[in-house]
Amino acid sequence: MADHPHSHHDHHGGMPHRFEHADEWAKEFDDPARDQWQMPDKVVAALALAPEMTVADVGAGTGYFTVRLARAVPQGTVLATDIEPDMIRYLNERAAREHLPNVRAVLGTADDPNLAPASVDRILVVDVWHHISDRPAYAKRLASALRPGGELAIVDFKAESEHGPPKDMRLAPEAIIGDLRAAGLTASLDPTALPEQYIVVARAR
Ligand SMILES: C[S@@+](CC[C@H](N)C(=O)[O-])C[C@H]1O[C@@H](n2cnc3c(N)ncnc32)[C@H](O)[C@@H]1O
Repeated sequence: MADHPHSHHDHHGGMPHRFEHADEWAKEFDDPARDQWQMPDKVVAALALAPEMTVADVGAGTGYFTVRLARAVPQGTVLATDIEPDMIRYLNERAAREHLPNVRAVLGTADDPNLAPASVDRILVVDVWHHISDRPAYAKRLASALRPGGELAIVDFKAESEHGPPKDMRLAPEAIIGDLRAAGLTASLDPTALPEQYIVVARAR
C-alpha cells in the first residue's frame, strides 16, 4: 500500500492528506496481496471481540477491516468512520453489497470521530494515526467514546517496513503510547507480531 502518493506536497504545507475517489483507493486498500503482510485475522484476534459488541473502525477507508469486524460481531454493530464523504458512500454501498446490515458508516471531521460518549466496546485505528494533526486531543475523544472496560487498538507502520507512508511521517509506537496515556488510558505494545506494523493497545484506567 503506497498510502501517500502525493506526500511530497500534501504533508509539508499543513493541509491534510485527502483520500477522495474511494473506488480508486479500493484497488489499493483491498488489494488481495495486502492480506499477506496485513494479516487481518491476527489484528481482529487482538481485539478479543464478543459477538454482540459495538466496534468503531476509525478512518475505515474502503472498509478492509470494517467487513471483517462486521462478520466478527454478528449480533453487534460496526461504526465505520471516515472524514471523506466518498468513503462513507463507498462503505454504505459495500455493506449492502456484502450483506452486512450491522455496519453503520459515520462521517467525522479531522478532529472528531463523531462517536457518542461511552458508546463503543472496541476501537480499531489502522494506518490513520499519522494523519491526525492534534493526536493527544483526538486520543481524548476516543477515550471518552469507550464504554467501561472498552479497549482501543492502533495499528501503524514500523520505521523499517516496506509499505506505508514516507519514513519521515511514521510514528514510533512510544509516541502513540504517549498520546494515549496523556488521554488517561493505560497503553502498551501488544505482543501480536505483524511483519510491517505494530499494534498499540489501550484501555481505561
Ligand atoms: C491509509 S487509509 C486506511 C484505511 C483503513 N483503515 C484500512 O486499513 O484500510 C486512511 C484513512 O483515514 C482517513 N482519515 C484521515 N484523517 C482522518 C481523521 N482525522 N479522522 C478519521 N479518518 C481520517 C482517510 O480519509 C482514509 O480513508
